[in-house]
Amino acid sequence: MENEFSEMKGVRPSNEELRRRVEHVKSIIVHHPIYMTVLEELEMRFALGNDSLTSECLYLYGPTGAGKSTVIREFVSRYPPFSKTSEYSSVPVLHVKVPLKATASSLASKVLLDLGYPFPTRRTELNHVRSLIMEREVKMLILEGAEHLNSKTINWVKTLIGEVNIPVVLCGISESMWMFVNDPQLNRLFTNKLELAPFRYGNKKETSAFLGFLHVMERQLPFAKPTNLTEKTIAERLYYASLGVASYLMQLMIEATICAVNDGDDSIELEHLNQAFERIKLISRPFIVNPFALDDFELEAELKREKGNNFRAS
Ligand SMILES: Nc1ncnc2c1ncn2[C@@H]1O[C@H](COP(=O)(O)OP(=O)(O)OP(=O)(O)O)[C@@H](O)[C@H]1O
Ligand SMILES: [Mg+2]
Repeated sequence: MENEFSEMKGVRPSNEELRRRVEHVKSIIVHHPIYMTVLEELEMRFALGNDSLTSECLYLYGPTGAGKSTVIREFVSRYPPFSKTSEYSSVPVLHVKVPLKATASSLASKVLLDLGYPFPTRRTELNHVRSLIMEREVKMLILEGAEHLNSKTINWVKTLIGEVNIPVVLCGISESMWMFVNDPQLNRLFTNKLELAPFRYGNKKETSAFLGFLHVMERQLPFAKPTNLTEKTIAERLYYASLGVASYLMQLMIEATICAVNDGDDSIELEHLNQAFERIKLISRPFIVNPFALDDFELEAELKREKGNNFRAS
C-alpha cells in the first residue's frame, strides 16, 4: 500500500481525519495517456514558439470536466513568474481565464490584471497589452474559456496574436468549436486542434486506458486496505456512471470516501459507491439508473436502454 492511512476497524474517526482523507482524494491527479499527450503538446508549443517567426497556436477542447483546467494548471506551475527587477516580474506563461460574457475591454482588463497591472480599463488597450506582454517577457499566452468569446472579442484576440508573435493556446469546452465555422481566419490561426476527450470503453486500447486510470486511483486511495476498482463488475459500473469523464469519477471517489470513512471501513466497497451515486445528481442524464444498486449489470444493455429512453423523450 502506498499510503499512510491507518485501519479504522469499524470506528468512525474524527472530522479532522475525515477531512484529511477527503483532501487526499481531491489532490490525486492521474497522469493518464490523454492527459500526458496534452501536457507534452503544451511543452512542445512552448519550445517551438521561442523566438519563432510565427505564432504557434493551439486550440485545446473537450467536454466539461474532462480535465482541461487541471492539465493547464500543472503546465503553468512549471513556469512560475519570477522577479526580474524590484519593479516587475517576468511571466513566462500568462494564463488568463476569459471573463463571463467578455467584451474586448473586460478581456483586455483581465489580461492586464494577470500581467500584474491592476488598473481596470474602459478601452481595448491593445498597445498597452502588447507592450506589457513584451516587458514581462511572456513566452506563451493561455486563454481559458473560449466559450465566453464572441465575434468582437475573437477579433480582439486575432489582432493580439498578430502583434505579439508568441504561442497562444485557446482552451474551451467542445461546443466552443463553433467559433471556427464562420471564421476561416481564426481557423487558420488555430489549425492545431487537440481534444482532451473523455475515456472510452470499447476496444482493448480504450478499455485499458480507462482501467489504467482506475488502477492509479485505487492505489492512492486513503485507506489501509486495497480497494478494487479495476475488477470488471466495478469498472463497468464506474464507466456507465461517468461516461469516462474524469470529474464524475473523482466526485464519485470523493463521496464514496466520505461514506466509507463515516462507516469506519478500510476500503471502498460497492455499497459506498451506491450511496455516493445517490448523492450526486446527474441532471444531464435524466434516465440514468444507479449501476451500483443493481445485482446484475450489463454495460452495453444499460447504455442502450438509456439511449432509447433519451430518444423516446426527445
Ligand atoms: N487527470 C486527472 N486526474 C484526477 N482527477 C482529474 C483529472 N482530470 C480531471 N480531474 C478531476 O476532474 C475535475 C474537473 O477537471 P477540470 O476542472 O480540469 O475540467 P475542465 O475540462 O476544465 O472542465 P470545464 O470545461 O467545466 O472547465 C477536477 O477537479 C478533478 O477532480
Ligand atoms: Mg476548466
